[in-house]
Amino acid sequence: MELNPSELTVTERYKLLIGAVVPRPIAFVSTTSPDGRPNLAPFSFFNAVGSDPMTLLFCPANNADGSEKDSLANAKPESEGGTGQFVVNVAVEAYKRQVAGAGEPLARGESEFGLVGLTEAPSAVVRPPRVGESPVCFECETVQVIRTNPGAPAGGNIVIGRVVHVFVRDGLVNERMHVDADTLGAIGRMGGAAYCTTRDRFSLPPGRAALDADA
Ligand SMILES: Cc1cc2nc3c(=O)[nH]c(=O)nc-3n(C[C@H](O)[C@H](O)[C@H](O)COP(=O)(O)O)c2cc1C
Repeated sequence: MELNPSELTVTERYKLLIGAVVPRPIAFVSTTSPDGRPNLAPFSFFNAVGSDPMTLLFCPANNADGSEKDSLANAKPESEGGTGQFVVNVAVEAYKRQVAGAGEPLARGESEFGLVGLTEAPSAVVRPPRVGESPVCFECETVQVIRTNPGAPAGGNIVIGRVVHVFVRDGLVNERMHVDADTLGAIGRMGGAAYCTTRDRFSLPPGRAALDADA
C-alpha cells in the first residue's frame, strides 16, 4: 500500500502516526498561566532533543477550533504572551490513571492537579509546580515554539525547552547517572487508548556487534 498524505483525511493521518510511531514516551507537562494558575496535561508527541544544552520538546496540537491548548498558551515565550516555562514530569505506572485522566479538556484556568488528585510540589527554579509523585521532573525554560500550521485545527506545534533543573528521586540513579528502569516504571503510549509498560526489555551492543548477538 502506498499512501499520499494529501489524499488522506486529517483523522487518517493521525491514526497512522499514533499507530505506527510507537511506543511514545509521555511527557506529563505542568505549566502555570500568566496569572499563576497551574495546569497539567499529558503529551506523547514528546522526546529528548540534545544534551548540550540539555534540551527536550513536546508537541501540543491545536484544538479542534484552531486555538492553542492551555499547555502551549502557558509555556510559550513571554514575548508571545506565555510564561516561557514548563516542567516535564515523567509518566510512570504508579500514576497511570492520573496521566490519562489529566487529558480531560478542562476550561482554561481549571487545574487538572485537582481533578486527578496529584500533588503540586514547588519546583526549584521555574514557577510551574512539579508533580510531587513524579520520580523525575525536568524543569524547562522555553527556547522556541515552532508552529507547523498556525491557527488551523490539529495544526502541530513544537515547544522546545532548555532543561534548567532536574529533580530525581533518591535511589533512582546510581553514581554514574544510570537510571534504574524497573524503579522508574515509565509507561508509553500506543495507538488509540493503548499504553505499554517498559518491563519487557532486551539488550544489544551498538553497531556490528549487534548482528551476531543474542537478543
Ligand atoms: C496519554 C496522552 C497523550 C497525549 N498526547 C498528546 C500530544 O502529544 N499532543 C496533543 O496535542 N495532545 C495530546 N493528548 C491530549 C491532551 O492531553 C489534551 O488535549 C489535554 O486536554 C490538553 O490539555 P491543556 O489544554 O491543559 O494543555 C494526550 C492525551 C493523553 C491521555
